[in-house]
Amino acid sequence: MPAGSLGNIAQPADQAFLVKEGRGSKLYDFSGNEYIDYLLGSGPMVLGHAHPAVVSAVREAAERGSTYFHNNWPAVELAEEIIRAAPCAEQVRFTTSGTDATFQCLRLARAYRKRDKVLKFEGGFHGMHDYSHVSLSPRPDQLGAFPAGAATSGGIPRAVLDTVLVAPYNDLDRTAAIVEQHRDELAAVIVEPFQRILTPAAGFLEGLRELTLRHDIPLVFDEVVTGFRLAYGGAQEYYGVTPDLAAYGKIVGGGYPLAAVAGRAGLMRYLDAAAVDADSFIPQIGTLSGNPVAAAAGLATLAELRKPGAYQQLHATGRRLMDGLHHALNEAEIPHYISGEPVNFDVYFTSHPVTDYRSGLDNNSKLTARFNQGLLQRNVYKPSQKFYIALAHTEEDITHTIRAFHETAQEMRHDSL
Ligand SMILES: Cc1ncc(COP(=O)(O)O)c(C=O)c1O
Repeated sequence: MPAGSLGNIAQPADQAFLVKEGRGSKLYDFSGNEYIDYLLGSGPMVLGHAHPAVVSAVREAAERGSTYFHNNWPAVELAEEIIRAAPCAEQVRFTTSGTDATFQCLRLARAYRKRDKVLKFEGGFHGMHDYSHVSLSPRPDQLGAFPAGAATSGGIPRAVLDTVLVAPYNDLDRTAAIVEQHRDELAAVIVEPFQRILTPAAGFLEGLRELTLRHDIPLVFDEVVTGFRLAYGGAQEYYGVTPDLAAYGKIVGGGYPLAAVAGRAGLMRYLDAAAVDADSFIPQIGTLSGNPVAAAAGLATLAELRKPGAYQQLHATGRRLMDGLHHALNEAEIPHYISGEPVNFDVYFTSHPVTDYRSGLDNNSKLTARFNQGLLQRNVYKPSQKFYIALAHTEEDITHTIRAFHETAQEMRHDSL
């Protein structure tokens, strides 16, 4: 395995562990350690690990066969549920990963617009395809003048760099100027409505909606993280802005390989050979698309999330942790900015608000590493740049985590980082 890992998490050797199992809010390693898990599989495990309702749905589905490549009942039911949940969803097409879902959204927009260019935001993450790797996490020496982007991976074709325009998140005026200038070349605007842990400024998403409608440019929301997390209807419901297309992943597959494209029928029709001309039709095929076991896991997960109080609980848990973190860092007199929504947040070690990719660049990454390490030493696992909250997080988990915040912050106060 290159780098000795799956590629997802780079843990220093002295902190590395191998997961043996996950149950509820906890992960267990092979040395008998138990961790309160705030990674949650990078988001899908919103109910916690091995939730009984999901395990039993998966067991039942698996006994009927693992995959068919054919229309099947759990997939149809899940498509119907996404349409009930998501304001933009008139039709649904399944993929296996969030990467493929955002990629298909861009292709749909190009088929509709008969133009090539797409606009994304600096620091916006849409998976691992070439378009997403334009200015995903540019180094300071790669930051140029908008809308030029930089390749943040090896192997990105020059042609793709020329196809993607990059704008600063939360800056409607600059985005509008780029869109106006390139409106005749643009096929799509794609955005994480809540970009990583950056919340949209008042009017930003509404402005994007108005701007894209004015020029008939499809607006794509990447809801891979936010779908069924911020609210049952995702960012669209939470922020009250409806895009033309949305990409789903993570929670919608209940921890199994499933993702989806949802959107207005007028765009989704390009996936139907009978509805469009032969040159515009998009054949979209996937061996595991609409996998029945994953769809059953997704349906069982969504059924739990529809129970009264689920989202109140998720937000309340996250709010208490955000407040506890703020208090711990204040007490230790460590400059910080806590960013995000209660269900998904993290801390920047900086002394000013962060509103876009560039304003987050002076985060003290040594302090971030030190903070994550201090938490891990106290069996609180938050390896990447954000806390994910689950319904499985208990009162005890919250108390333990807030204690870990205080102890770690007090240790950091005496470090000279
Ligand atoms: C916002 C966003 N979009 C797309 C993706 C890609 O999803 P996947 O890892 O399923 O390809 C991710 C993954 O973390 C994501 O956070």
